[in-house]
Formats: sequence, C-alpha cells, structure tokens
Amino acid sequence: MCLTIPAEVIKIQGNKATIKSDREIKEINIAFDVNLKVNDWVLYISDIIVKKIPADEAREIIDLLKTRPQVSRENLSQEFQDIIKKSKTKELSLADIVYLLNASGAEKEVLSQEADFTRRATLKEFICIHGVIEFSSYCRCDCSYCGLNASNAAARRYRFTPAEIIANVLQAVNAGYKLLVLQSGEDAYYTDEMLEKIIKEIKRQAQVFIFLSVGERGYDSYKRLKEAGASGALFRFETTNENLFKKIHATGKDFKNRFEHLKFLKELGYYVASGPIIGLPGQTVQDLAADLLFIKQNKIPMISMGPFIPCPGTKFENEKNGTVELTLKMIAVARLMMPTSRIPCTTAFETLFDSPNEARSVALTGGANALMFILTDKKYRADYKIYPGREIVLNELWEKFGLWRNDESFRMLSERINERT
Ligand code: 5AD
Repeated sequence: MCLTIPAEVIKIQGNKATIKSDREIKEINIAFDVNLKVNDWVLYISDIIVKKIPADEAREIIDLLKTRPQVSRENLSQEFQDIIKKSKTKELSLADIVYLLNASGAEKEVLSQEADFTRRATLKEFICIHGVIEFSSYCRCDCSYCGLNASNAAARRYRFTPAEIIANVLQAVNAGYKLLVLQSGEDAYYTDEMLEKIIKEIKRQAQVFIFLSVGERGYDSYKRLKEAGASGALFRFETTNENLFKKIHATGKDFKNRFEHLKFLKELGYYVASGPIIGLPGQTVQDLAADLLFIKQNKIPMISMGPFIPCPGTKFENEKNGTVELTLKMIAVARLMMPTSRIPCTTAFETLFDSPNEARSVALTGGANALMFILTDKKYRADYKIYPGREIVLNELWEKFGLWRNDESFRMLSERINERT
C-alpha cells in the first residue's frame, strides 16, 4: 500500500483542483468519486486526488513526515562537502562511505537531510507499507544473534497450518496490504509442495505480491516457489566479511552458500531484498561500507537492514546493540548511493525507540521510503522472538492513511517490481 503526504485544496475548477502541501503547490485531477470543496484535506497519488481526509488527521501525518529542522551548514568540513557533492554524480569509494558512516554532529544531520532530499526528489512522497506474517518459529539454524536458534530451549515454538497462513494473508489483503512477506525460521516441516500449494491458493484468491523470507532452501525450491507465484525474496546476507560471518554462525551456515542464494534468487527473477545486520559484535564501519558497495554492485533493489538487537537465549545475549545513529547513517548513505532503491524502516530499528512511530518518523525523513508492519495473527505474535520488543505494534494511524483500496496503488507497485526483476 502507499502512503502519501496530505495536501489542502486551495482552488477547484471542474474536475481539477489546485492543492498545497508543505512541499508543493500543483494542479491535479480529482477522482470521479471524491466530493471536494476548498480547504478540504486530501491524499493524492501522482496527479490524481484519491481520498478526502479530516483536517486533524492530515495534521497528524504531516507531523510524522515533517522535514527535519535545518541545521547550519557553516562548519562542515571540506571533505564532507566534497563527498556529498560527489555522491550526486559519481560513485562513492569505500573511503568516502567510511567517512560518512563516521560523521557526527552537524555532518550527521546534514547527511540525513541530504538523504531525505534525494528520496523526495527521486521517489516523491510515496511511502510504501508492507506486511510481514511470521508463520513458524521453528528453526534448524544456530545463528548467534537470533532468539529462534535451535539450541534455545526457552523459545516457544509454533507453526501455522496452511489454512492459517492463507487466512492470515487474506485478512491482511482485506485490510489493504498489497505486498506481504511470509517469514519463518528455517523449518523443513513445510515442504516445497506445501508452500507451492499455499502460494498458488493465495494468488488464486487475492491480488497481492508474496515475498518469501524462509532462509536457505536451495535453488530447486526457490525455482518451484517462483513458478508458483512468489514475487520476491527477503534474504539478508548479514555481512560480506567472511570472518565475521563465521563468528555469527559458529555452526550450520556456509558463507558461499549464502551468497550463491542471492545470486540465483536474482537469476530466477525474484525481487531481492537484502542487506546487513548493523552493529554486530566485532563489525567495523569498513565492513558496513563494503556491504553497501556490495548492494550497489549487485543492484539489489530493496535494501533490508536493521540494527543488531541482543536477545536472551542467544550466544550474543550480552553484547551491545547496533545504534540508532549508525543505522540512520547507513540508511542515509544507502539512499545517496542508490537514489531509487526501496529502503524500509525495519522493526529492529523501531525497538530502539519508546514508540515505533518516532522511529518511523526519523527513518522516513532520513532516506527510508517504506515500512514493514508485523501482521502475524495475535495468537502467535509474541512467540516469534528473534529479538525482544518485536511484538509492539502500532499500525493504526498509518493504516488509516493508507491508500489501501486503490487499484492505482497496486498498479504502481507492479510497475516498480517488474521494472527491477
Ligand atoms: N537482531 C537484529 N536482527 C535480527 N534478525 C534476527 N535476529 C536478529 C537480532 N537479534 C534479522 C535477521 C532476519 C530478519 C528478519 O531479522 O537478519 O533476516
């Protein structure tokens, strides 16, 4: 679904209206079923008004997406200014990226502002909201950071039946979601045949894009699931540093296999979402800069990255978390390097704030352009503990503003997904 900045109607002439938001004034068309008068507040996509909304609600969302306060640009170092300028026309080097990831004070603020500017210039005001349905908390892996690791006897395990998965998806589609991620631990209980049937049934019943986030299942499995109707795969590479990778996967994961998956997912036509975990124990800014270069070189269209969150019951339970600051700088640099990419604000990032809306607001005004909402049936939600705090969900305000039921929003998403696969 899409979310967009509200605007106030300042003039109406026939089926055209002049609208004014805090970003622009323009004349656009009015959808045939929207009844308008001057001073009404509306939501619009491209050049058409699609929905009228109450003024107080318009203010709420403007507040969430308001631009950052301007900071003085007087004391920025020459090097910083040169790198920002370079990012607009040339490729950034590893050293440039490291410089930006180390930015502090005013430079850190300006970095986020530049990313916000780039996002608005390239993608306008469309914020996409995707849903995640976590259908199984069983996992055969032993990743050092993840609460679902197989050795964690305290983890509560559940599995959706195929009928439950389909019901959860249809419920989300009815609420207006048009892109859903089906996520689970690496759970061999679900055979290819089962997943194939589930995907086909969803595609038969609903107009929705299905992304898989089910780990390393191998080429044949992903091929079959693509043919069944899956559109994308959320598959974090986690780190491009092989030594660090070994540290976070003492057993059961192979660095090469992970990157082979990324390669064939792309070849199979999956819309790939991938990226690092930010702030892993022992990870350096050089590692993260290399991760961004990897994403760029491999033209990964959706950059999925979030801070490391220590989780009880894991090898890393006493380690420090990845910071808000570094995550925001990663989002900003990614936006400058890849202006048209899809960059979601991840749930892990939201857990670092008192309220998820605060997190969403800073990420969306710092280069991010998408949100990921957990839609897992409430009965199971608290048991998908890859890290703590994930169950806090505050979606109502955003859902209220979504251009949910609009076919236009589905069409736009189709164009973007097809263009990149
Ligand atoms: N901290 C941060 N990210 C984590 N993930 C799993 N556990 C953690 C954690 N403790 C990430 C994985 C997975 C995504 C859904 O969440 O990278 O791909």
